[in-house]
Amino acid sequence: MKAVCRFSCVAALVFLILVPAVASAKDFFVKQPPASLDKLYPPLSKEPKWIQQMHKMSGSFGGVFVNMKEGDWENAEKLAGQFVEAYKETSKMVPEWEEYFDLDAARKFAETVKTRDGTEIGKAAGPVGKTCGKCHGDNEVSVWAKYHWPSFHEVKVIDPHDDKEVEFDEYMKSISGAFKGVTVNFKEGQNDRAGKAARVFKAKYTELKSTCSKCHTNGDVKRFYVGESVSAALSGLVDELRKEKPDPGKVWQNVGIIGREGCKHCHLVHRSASFIKERWEEK
Ligand code: HEC
Ligand code: HEC
Ligand code: HEC
Repeated sequence: MKAVCRFSCVAALVFLILVPAVASAKDFFVKQPPASLDKLYPPLSKEPKWIQQMHKMSGSFGGVFVNMKEGDWENAEKLAGQFVEAYKETSKMVPEWEEYFDLDAARKFAETVKTRDGTEIGKAAGPVGKTCGKCHGDNEVSVWAKYHWPSFHEVKVIDPHDDKEVEFDEYMKSISGAFKGVTVNFKEGQNDRAGKAARVFKAKYTELKSTCSKCHTNGDVKRFYVGESVSAALSGLVDELRKEKPDPGKVWQNVGIIGREGCKHCHLVHRSASFIKERWEEK
């Protein structure tokens, strides 16, 4: 077993060193959307014009099939014509994206609708639908990150420990440090220090509630990450560490709840977009 690994591991290593890191078709890139898209989204445009255009295309394209199923060929043809117009119009809106569009395929689709042959219409729709899917796959996540996600880099927090206003990511570092102050000291049996750190940590963590309203208008979201379950764990942690002989089981259980339902779950929802924005902002 050992000898086999020695050979195959060396072979694998040589392979890894010799094969250059090339992008495979399965790699997923989150490129910055082209600059000319800016004028189709707030704040430069009052309306989200790009999204409106998408609805125009999708309403007419999908509408053809709604009418087709009803045998309403007159409206099917009308919408097919509107679709070609909308598709053409959209292809001119963002020059950097023009090549995603296949105008011939769109025209051919509209022509085929006139045959009133469902199978042929389905076949002609395929290549058009592919152009939608290709662009969505390449660009939708980037567009969400750029135009739909507010930036955490503009959120500031007042640290209850010293009343100083700090950037959100600085605040995260300080919360993270305070949390470690609890776990490291408790592991070392330094319960006084752990208890003190827990009180600072609880105050800092609870202050996070003030940040939600910078982006959310619905206070309901505060049931998560900063809601009852994590609040109870923070109090449980502080109370346990006040005892002469804290129960390690209870301390670690509360640490686990805070780490999972507080830090981790909030990161899983909010941090992906932040990672993308951060990379784009790098000079
Ligand atoms: C050149 C790129 C591109 C092409 C081609 C394209 N789309 Fe889109 N589409 C986008 C992007 C980017 C978004 C995300 C917009 C957003 O969320 O702000 C989107 C979003 C959408 C949405 C969701 C809108 C919403 O309210 O969230 C629909 C529906 C849609 N596209 C339909 C279509 C259809 C149908 C086609 C083909 C006939 C098509 N798109 C072709 C780029 C494209
Ligand atoms: C910088 C902006 C920002 C801040 C600050 C922020 N969020 Fe969010 N959060 C978002 C965005 C954007 C989404 C995606 C859906 C949306 O727009 O609501 C989201 C989604 C969520 C969701 C998923 C459910 C939903 O409404 O879509 C929850 C729960 C949530 N946030 C809770 C919180 C809590 C609790 C806080 C404060 C501790 C917070 N958020 C702070 C921007 C933010
Ligand atoms: C409101 C939701 C939320 C909660 C709750 C939360 N975080 Fe974060 N955290 C974020 C976001 C968003 C970022 C990215 C910030 C940015 O990009 O500026 C982040 C970034 C971080 C970073 C990296 C900071 C840096 O820039 O170097 C650390 C470390 C961190 N969090 C630790 C924690 C710990 C530990 C907890 C729990 C005790 C926690 N966070 C709770 C949302 C949250």
